[in-house]
Amino acid sequence: MATSIFKPVTVITGASVGIGAALARVFARHGHEVALVARREKEMVLLATEIAVWAKHKPVVITADLQRSDAPARIAHELLGRGLEPAIVVNNAGFGLHGPAAEIDRGEQLAMIDLNVRALTDLSLRWIDGIVKHKGGILNVASVAGFMPGPGMAVYYATKAYVLSFSEALSRELEPLGVRVTVLCPGPVKTEFQMRAGIDARRPSRLLDRSAEQVAQAGYDGFMAGKRLVIPGAGNKLVSLLPKFLPRGLVLKALESYQRGRGRRAEGWRRPK
Ligand SMILES: NC(=O)c1ccc[n+]([C@@H]2O[C@H](COP(=O)([O-])OP(=O)(O)OC[C@H]3O[C@@H](n4cnc5c(N)ncnc54)[C@H](OP(=O)(O)O)[C@@H]3O)[C@@H](O)[C@H]2O)c1
Repeated sequence: MATSIFKPVTVITGASVGIGAALARVFARHGHEVALVARREKEMVLLATEIAVWAKHKPVVITADLQRSDAPARIAHELLGRGLEPAIVVNNAGFGLHGPAAEIDRGEQLAMIDLNVRALTDLSLRWIDGIVKHKGGILNVASVAGFMPGPGMAVYYATKAYVLSFSEALSRELEPLGVRVTVLCPGPVKTEFQMRAGIDARRPSRLLDRSAEQVAQAGYDGFMAGKRLVIPGAGNKLVSLLPKFLPRGLVLKALESYQRGRGRRAEGWRRPK
């Protein structure tokens, strides 16, 4: 069999901070050559420099705005130019927005779909041939939010339901090719996510909260073990099951009240009659 002239690489999106940076450290610690992708170059260069001190390979840094539809092609071009071929793709970049969908900025909500859904789908499908060749895989970051509708973060929850559904189906389709697809569904993790979404992060829940490092480790372990679904923490596993057993109306009411309580912009949020 002809050997590839390209070196396998693990592409990690949203790797400048938060869960993505933690995932980059975990993959690098296990000997993977990683390519960090996000908008903030300075944070990624710092992370790459830190990882280079103790890891086998210095990470590659690629700055890209994944809300732009031409970003995946540009990333592919950069990797090709460096002689790298994605064997593992970790689609972690994403953000949420808190508030009633009819009231918060429509353009920002559509941009969330571009990032959380469109870019994730493109990067999941773009390198399948190489992933098959390297017997690699895809690790997609959804959320416990993907298991339920979320009034107060309606578009965000819907994007994560898409990621969950798409990834589980893809795992089934690619299994015969020896490709693993894992969907990681964290509960609350204190990162920049809350600030960007407009959520009050000062209300910790000891039952549900996990650190970015714990989530990244659980995601890596589950992915390497070939698990289809990883939900870090017993409390979060329980939360993901509740919508199966409770009436939909009750789930909607409970989620609405939960979201109303944690918004930083909560004062102006009234339920329409
Ligand atoms: N934190 C939570 O409670 C929680 C819970 C469940 C699921 N999640 C999911 O976990 C993933 C990571 O979130 P996090 O908590 O680590 O949030 P975070 O700290 O805000 O990190 C988000 C990452 O995504 C990148 N990103 C955002 N917009 C981008 C764009 N347009 N193009 C390229 N990269 C972009 C950011 O980098 P730049 O700003 O440098 O571009 C950053 O590296 C997300 O998919 C999120 O939905 C988070």
